[in-house]
Amino acid sequence: MTATRTTTTASVPLAPGALPLLGHALPLLRDPLAFIRSLAGYPTMVRVRLGPTTALLICDPTLTRHVFVNDRTFDKGGPIYDRIREVIGDGLSTCPYPLHRRQRRLCQPSFHPRRLHGYAAVFGRASDATAGSWHDGQVLDVTREMMTLTTQATMETMFSGSLPAETLRRALADTNTVVSAFFRRMMTPALLRRLPTPAKRRYDQARARLFATITDIVAARRADPTDHADLLSALVAAVDVESRDHEQRLSDSELADQALTFFLGGMETTAITLAWALYLTATHPEIQRRLHAETDTVLAGALPGPEHLPRLDLAARVVTETLRLYPPAWMMTRTVTGEAELDGVRLRRGDTLVLSPYLIHRRPDLYADPTRFDPDRWLDTSPDRASYVPFGAGARKCIGDQFALTEAILALTAVTARWELTPVGDEPFRPKVETSLSSRGLRLRLRQRQATETTATHSPPVATSQPVPPAVGSGPGVCPVAH
Ligand code: HEM
Repeated sequence: MTATRTTTTASVPLAPGALPLLGHALPLLRDPLAFIRSLAGYPTMVRVRLGPTTALLICDPTLTRHVFVNDRTFDKGGPIYDRIREVIGDGLSTCPYPLHRRQRRLCQPSFHPRRLHGYAAVFGRASDATAGSWHDGQVLDVTREMMTLTTQATMETMFSGSLPAETLRRALADTNTVVSAFFRRMMTPALLRRLPTPAKRRYDQARARLFATITDIVAARRADPTDHADLLSALVAAVDVESRDHEQRLSDSELADQALTFFLGGMETTAITLAWALYLTATHPEIQRRLHAETDTVLAGALPGPEHLPRLDLAARVVTETLRLYPPAWMMTRTVTGEAELDGVRLRRGDTLVLSPYLIHRRPDLYADPTRFDPDRWLDTSPDRASYVPFGAGARKCIGDQFALTEAILALTAVTARWELTPVGDEPFRPKVETSLSSRGLRLRLRQRQATETTATHSPPVATSQPVPPAVGSGPGVCPVAH
């Protein structure tokens, strides 16, 4: 990305509507998506003031990929990651470049395709159990239900479902408090963030309790290191033979950071994706009819599982298209680690860059009729590496991408196997934009399908080792990770 002539960041156009002190905080808090969409016309980048920080928002897909891939120069950092680091320390998603490769090597075995097969069986069972607990005519709080589903699946795949229900309930409530605070804290100047307000106290308490809960889980697993075939066992067992100068295993505090990272990242982003997929299905009856046909043919009355994945083509395209329109990680930040240049603009150490899959995914020059939900646009094309980035790119690309896609496809299938979905009311549902594109408050009505009886008849009882309580709230999601 070297241009022949270089210029300074001051020459990059400033987005309209900046106020003294507040910068673009007002449009970003009031209607962030409209603000981001209004910037799609800038060809390469535009200056945005995020509270106290001035940042360069990248509008071009090739430049976006360049920043993602060059993670030594454009490292995790900036307002979003600084806030997330307060909670999950230097876990895989937040750690700086010098710590990253070792952590990634240690975490990668947890997501090995061999393990994914086992996780997929859990996803199928958990999804069928959730979908089977609803009744005809019910108006569903979709995000809450999807949180329950992904929590159940995450608990089983991560901790073999071995948490007492009360511990889980508290962890979810604390997660909700913490992630709800991220976006506002990101926009607030440091001095105000430190004020001992009741909200700040609640945030600090929830953060400390959440960490203590995870630390206890890790300590218990250290004491019983048998392979439970779950994510935590893989983390405990991981050895990095390439780490000659560092510890070859994860320390206790690193294990806690990683477990918390997966716990937060594994639930909300996937739940939100699923909620949006169900909303788009409900509002596009022809797609829903085809999904029903696919489900009936492929499952033929069986419980969804890994063996069905290769034939769930439409469900996979629905998930792909959902992540294009509503990428949960709609915005991410990077910090520049030294003198650098981006498309002819000289950058200095500490400069902040903003990347937005939401903006890239809705550019009309990249996607025909970009606001239209059209799963068939993926019939003959695979997602392009630069213009489709719901999971980021490069060495920091989401480690849980296949895990999340597998879960989302199987859960969508489990729901459509049993239910027909219809919207409640005529108004389109709008995302609640916080650290992620939340679907909080989305409601859909259920009508029982004929095929339900077949599915229900053949579904074995759900083998959860622990009853999982309903998700507490469905607050703003965050893949802690995803930012
Ligand atoms: C649909 C669901 C998900 C979405 C949209 C998503 C999105 C993302 C994105 C965009 C990134 C890159 C962030 C950046 O470059 O700044 C990321 C990283 C990450 N994600 Fe996800 N994610 C999802 C599910 C998951 C799941 C299920 C897990 C774990 C169980 C997970 C764990 C992680 C981790 C650990 C990273 C950091 C990777 C690294 O830096 O090496 N994510 N995710």
